[in-house]
Amino acid sequence: MRALVTRAWPKATQNRLAKLCEATFRDPDTPMSAAEWMEAATQYDAILPTVSDNIPAEFYDAAKGKVRLLANYGVGYNHIDTAAAEAAGIAVTNTPGVLTDCTADLAMGLLLAAARRLGEGERELRAGRWDGWRPTHLIGRKVAGATLGIIGFGRIGQAMAQRAHHGFGMKVVFQNRSRVDPQTADRYGATQMANVAEVAEVSDFLSLHCPGGADTRHLIDAEIFAAMKPGAILINTARGDVVDEDALFAALGTGNLGGAGLDVFQNEPTLDPRFLKHENLVLAPHLGSATDATRAAMGHLAIDNLEAFLSGNTPPNKIV
Ligand code: DGY
Repeated sequence: MRALVTRAWPKATQNRLAKLCEATFRDPDTPMSAAEWMEAATQYDAILPTVSDNIPAEFYDAAKGKVRLLANYGVGYNHIDTAAAEAAGIAVTNTPGVLTDCTADLAMGLLLAAARRLGEGERELRAGRWDGWRPTHLIGRKVAGATLGIIGFGRIGQAMAQRAHHGFGMKVVFQNRSRVDPQTADRYGATQMANVAEVAEVSDFLSLHCPGGADTRHLIDAEIFAAMKPGAILINTARGDVVDEDALFAALGTGNLGGAGLDVFQNEPTLDPRFLKHENLVLAPHLGSATDATRAAMGHLAIDNLEAFLSGNTPPNKIV
């Protein structure tokens, strides 16, 4: 059994995997080229990719009959063509659950940082521009008691609601593709609304927790920015392409969007230079799950999936 790990993983998880199979830990820690993917298609029984991998469309056909599993390190799998994988007889797994708390923590951190203008304040201090306390200096937005709109009320959306409602006394409204059991919503004092626009209309903060992919591409578009309360703040720890970035810059330009806390971007890791022109944006380089405990847990869960697959059982987090 030959397995390829596409990027560097936490040491302990590499050690565990090395004991389980003939594992190749690719070095350097850079994205694989299309040529490397095509080569891997004929060499490995399992590949353990991650969320920043670009898998060429031709990979799946080429891997048919050789690669049997793509055990993704990450909960999001919009970088994997699951239909093409299934058609080629390749199982796909992911790592849900273990990154819920850390991602929600980061979303709450971005919300607080954007509301209270922490990025601007830090830049002012570091540049030696601070001239002391004054009543009108860097005035932000009050978080306690404000309304938080959540788009996508799965594990991470609910963890965000937990923090916002029970930690910060926020009122929570949300949109979710399917109906959420009222008892679940009640746990966070949350109200489900019919659609994204309705949530946007009443929210002081709008936080995105839906999956990426074709179904949610540009879900937050010009129409939603126009529906938002003037001055509202957007938080995105989901996927960059959920937001139409041109529409975001237009809304920042008119002032209808008051600011944003963003952990994900449409063309990662290339940052549209327009982001750097706006002081009221708090920008992070896709750090949602970046804690030692969570990154280790993600690796262990990917290995659990591989181990189950190898022993002929259904992997606990099988997608197809
Ligand atoms: C995921 O797992 O999908 C995240 O974006 C990485 O933290």
